[in-house]
Amino acid sequence: MNESEIIKSINEIGIAKVENFLDNENLNMVEKILSKQKSIKNSEDAFLYRSKGNFFLKKLLYFKFFKFIKCLKMTNLSKKLKLQELSRKINGGQTKLVSIDSYYSKKSTNKVIDWHVDQAYSGKLNPTRILDPDHTVIKFFVYLTDVGPDNGSLGYIPGSNKILYYLKLGIFNKDIKYKPYWRLEDLRNLIQENDYKNYLEAKIDKRFVSNFLEQSHFITTDFQDTKKYDYELKKGDALIFDEAGVHRGAAPEKNDRLVLRFVYKDINTPEN
Ligand SMILES: [Fe+2]
Repeated sequence: MNESEIIKSINEIGIAKVENFLDNENLNMVEKILSKQKSIKNSEDAFLYRSKGNFFLKKLLYFKFFKFIKCLKMTNLSKKLKLQELSRKINGGQTKLVSIDSYYSKKSTNKVIDWHVDQAYSGKLNPTRILDPDHTVIKFFVYLTDVGPDNGSLGYIPGSNKILYYLKLGIFNKDIKYKPYWRLEDLRNLIQENDYKNYLEAKIDKRFVSNFLEQSHFITTDFQDTKKYDYELKKGDALIFDEAGVHRGAAPEKNDRLVLRFVYKDINTPEN
């Protein structure tokens, strides 16, 4: 996929697969840095860079030279790969790099994470601040192990990012009330309620709503999952996606999974 195909794919369905995202030289460098990386998601150790809290400076101040070098190498890699530029083109406006981290999942029969929506207040009943849907988050998932269906693959419901954009817009503008939608099941139930369905159908083509209901029907079945939206990737490939869409991480049944993530946000997104 070339750059314009990536941008087109993300604008249309929310996600794009890029083969050989890292060439051999970059892959070797990253593998060296992450070879002993077994930190679980969101643990302090998993972060290679963070925009908040003077991350970079603190590593120097506290004589964490190894971490400082790792941080430098990773931010340099993001520059070399022109990720800022690409995320800006996808977003249609300026973006900022907010974090680089690793995401390690041990071989298991349990899903890495079930079908869900990011930026959905973890399903809280009363979130304190409602997020602006224009504060887009673009994620680069760079795989350092092979993945596929039943093996740590990311599934993404194509086009679901559009449903979520308008749902969030309605909530942000107080045209519709907030109700939890972090879980796909809750989201599905919510948009079948008249107020929400009518609102969405006035904003986007009716077919989008009915398509989404069809695409997400699997969550109401006994299996509560599908392999239909899974991506098969080789080590060094990447998925780039709009975080707003519905996604899940399949169980890494065959081997441990290691992902390097670069997260870019719209420049106007508040820090916390
Ligand atoms: Fe997520």
